[in-house]
Amino acid sequence: MTSYQSAKEEIRRTADIVELIGRFVKLKKAGRNYVGLCPFHAEKDPSFTVNAERQTFHCFGCKKGGDIFSFWMEYHSSTFPEALRDLAERYNVTISEGFSASKEREKAAQRESLFRLNEKATVYFERALGHSQKGKSARAYLNRRSLQKDTIPEFRIGYAPDEWDGLVGILRHEHVDLNLAVQAGLIISRKSGGYYDRFRNRVIFPIFNLRQQVVGFGGRVLDDSLPKYLNTPETPIFHKGESLYGLHASHKMIREKGRVVIVEGYMDCLALKKHGLNEVVATLGTALTSRHVRKLKGYADEAIVVFDADEAGKSAALRSLPVFSNEGLSAKAVVLPEGHDPDTFVNLNGLDVFLEIIDQAFPMFDFFVEQRFSERDSDEGRVRALKDILPVLSEIRDFTLRSLYVRRLSERIGVKEDVVLSELTRFMKKPSGEAFERKINGQMMTGKKAQKSLTDLQLLNLLVHYPETVSRLMACECRTLLSDPVVMKIVDTIFAEFSQETPFSPEKLLDILDSEQACEQLREVLHRPFVCSQQDVEQAVVEFEEEVYQAKISVSFQRAKERGDMERLVQLTKLKTQGPLRS
Ligand code: UTP
Ligand code: MN
Repeated sequence: MTSYQSAKEEIRRTADIVELIGRFVKLKKAGRNYVGLCPFHAEKDPSFTVNAERQTFHCFGCKKGGDIFSFWMEYHSSTFPEALRDLAERYNVTISEGFSASKEREKAAQRESLFRLNEKATVYFERALGHSQKGKSARAYLNRRSLQKDTIPEFRIGYAPDEWDGLVGILRHEHVDLNLAVQAGLIISRKSGGYYDRFRNRVIFPIFNLRQQVVGFGGRVLDDSLPKYLNTPETPIFHKGESLYGLHASHKMIREKGRVVIVEGYMDCLALKKHGLNEVVATLGTALTSRHVRKLKGYADEAIVVFDADEAGKSAALRSLPVFSNEGLSAKAVVLPEGHDPDTFVNLNGLDVFLEIIDQAFPMFDFFVEQRFSERDSDEGRVRALKDILPVLSEIRDFTLRSLYVRRLSERIGVKEDVVLSELTRFMKKPSGEAFERKINGQMMTGKKAQKSLTDLQLLNLLVHYPETVSRLMACECRTLLSDPVVMKIVDTIFAEFSQETPFSPEKLLDILDSEQACEQLREVLHRPFVCSQQDVEQAVVEFEEEVYQAKISVSFQRAKERGDMERLVQLTKLKTQGPLRS
């Protein structure tokens, strides 16, 4: 056994998957499993299950699943070696170096180097801000923006000096591979050769992941020049549509309060924190994505989004509605008075006034309808507004919720419910857009499901949930009843394992099976409660024995008939009524 395998097993023995996943996903106990909203796909009703006994998870919606390692990799978008290292650290397991020699390791090593580089850069920016001369203007700027003294070290805010090769010089001096620094988005290569710093004369906000590593940076100018903020481009470790600024520092409080306040900017997030609102994150100016919401719903039951009062803010509110609805995170919206953002507002009025506004937040849909209709009360205006809303409503997957919104909308705009509904239906029938694609996908999914025969599933359930039946089912050659190749593969593996005298455990199969489809199918069965009495189990085994027996006789019967062997036919008819011999 290689050392990483023993580390893997030791981690599995030490870790508790419910505790670990519970840190990222709100889990509720439901029978033998824990359930929650899947962090990997859009859903309103929990189909994500975690099984404490088996230490596995499985989502019945998107089919993702596996052990703690699979969870960690998927959740943190990391490679196996990274997951192994992270979890080893968390559970105090030592791994010897050089545990994997694959592409995976290369990828992990690259990501690791990018994190190290970002760390170097963060320290460089922090020092520059502290530098008596170089950092002066930036310190004065932060002072003007009334950032608290503690906030600067806590969020590791820094300054990129007004130099073309400040960071390039340092990295060169330390013999860092400059191509890697280009990949990290820290420096840019010149067409004419050489490199220069991406961030110059800007206040730097490092962006952290939940492991407190720096994934990227945002840099703000000290004056009114443009662009106001410059961000790290997409890199192997930085994805703007996923990152939430401040989450690394807020997640505990978000969970405690059960709610999260979502703002747009770095400074908004920091200002609210300074005033004592700790359950806050910022989206970094991008539209809210389902990946953002998936992260948040693991901590919060409710989101309150603070939008700008301008047109862009309103349309952002509109677009976020289906994102929240489809992810099943209840959301409210507020706008601050014209000309304010959370930073200016809370600095001027204090936290209490801000909290009052938050407490009066409207549910997202109502907010949005009010926004659309207050100014457009002419008939043309209402028709236009309705046209704006239809695409958004069509994105909401839950039928009941959609109907509810249709009713509310029709009441609000004074148009009959059937009219709104038929407009919506017409819109959704257009053979374009996401709705259509989903329908096709949905049909394909049901087609796939229908193929699996009941016999296949029942047999698999018996073998997996009642391993004491394995020897009898193996002996009666029940395998011949199977029709699904994936199930066959699992059953073959079960029998092979069983024959090897090792105590047979279904969880172990997940490691042995080399097909992802088979693993998925097995997890599905493992996570679906299958409880029956001892009598039912016995009955089921007997029925299987009987079925195999009859099937065998039918085959022999057919052959005897073809041969015209009358004697054998008579014998088989007798056997048929007699049933299988019971031992
Ligand atoms: P805003 O333009 O509302 O700026 O952009 P702000 O947060 O109020 O900034 P301050 O208070 O003037 O410092 C909101 C967010 O959008 C992103 C940033 O994350 C910013 O915090 N943004 C904005 C960019 O990425 N690039 C830009 O040029 C502007
Ligand atoms: Mn601002």
